[in-house]
Amino acid sequence: MSDKKSALTIKKAVFPVAGIGTRFLPATKANPKEMMPVVDKPLIQYAVEEAIKAGITELIFVTSSSKRAIEDHFDSNFELESKLKAQDRKELLEIVQSILPSGISCVYIRQPEALGLGHAILCAKPAVGNDPFAVLLADDLIDGQNGASCLTQMITQFQAVNDSIVAVEKINLKDSSKYGIVGVEKSFSHFGKINQIVEKPKPSAAPSHFGVVGRYLLTADIFTQLECVKPGANGEIQLTDAIAALLNKRSVYALAFSGKRYDCGTKLGYLQAIVAHGLKHPEVAKDFKQYLENIV
Ligand code: UTP
Repeated sequence: MSDKKSALTIKKAVFPVAGIGTRFLPATKANPKEMMPVVDKPLIQYAVEEAIKAGITELIFVTSSSKRAIEDHFDSNFELESKLKAQDRKELLEIVQSILPSGISCVYIRQPEALGLGHAILCAKPAVGNDPFAVLLADDLIDGQNGASCLTQMITQFQAVNDSIVAVEKINLKDSSKYGIVGVEKSFSHFGKINQIVEKPKPSAAPSHFGVVGRYLLTADIFTQLECVKPGANGEIQLTDAIAALLNKRSVYALAFSGKRYDCGTKLGYLQAIVAHGLKHPEVAKDFKQYLENIV
């Protein structure tokens, strides 16, 4: 199934970008984490491209006062474009102008205080309405497999179940306190219902090896749950707690997607993403490979 065809029902995606990015200080003191480049594109552009390829047409950014650069990135830049036109630099002009393809709209909503991912998503409620929607955390850069991105794989499954889906991957249990961890049936291989979800458990309390990563498809009734949850881990309104509450009302599924995730919220994951993407970038791949071979 093509990316477009599999996405008939989900048109809106929320990008929570209002976090303060403490793990990347001082780089994130004045610059948004989501604008950090992997080779030549900022993280947020990778996430937006994944969403658009999966059929999303409305991009809802939950942002904060220090994240203006994100809004500017997806806006046109008259001065730059005029200069590139005057210099007849068609290729660069095309790169700049195609950041946001026609037919795609952007909505920006402020999260007044970084009260957690759950709170950020609740801020998007007026723009989402009653439709099911996607959530993409740009600091998880995910390369799909066989031409299907993680989000496309999720939307394909959504069309069969019409319930919320979280993307998961097998994690090392010693890292369980960095993730939301789902409980799944013994027979779970790559897709199935979850029976619990716990935020940042100790390894001994983790219900499985499957940690939630930064892609969600949520039905709009998650907002009712988000409105009720009390601050949880780190004093934040946790999306995980709202999903746990939703589980009492209807099914929620987990998809162990096919592909490779880079946790660009951490220094090591970010460096790994740069190496992987540098090695497949048409302009630098060959020389970069040679450079790595020489230094390793
Ligand atoms: P993180 O847990 O990575 O938090 O948020 P962070 O602030 O970005 O980074 P660290 O942990 O301090 O280094 C996951 C996603 O949720 C968004 C972030 O922007 C990121 O995309 N988020 C988090 C919000 O939009 N608002 C919040 O209040 C918290």
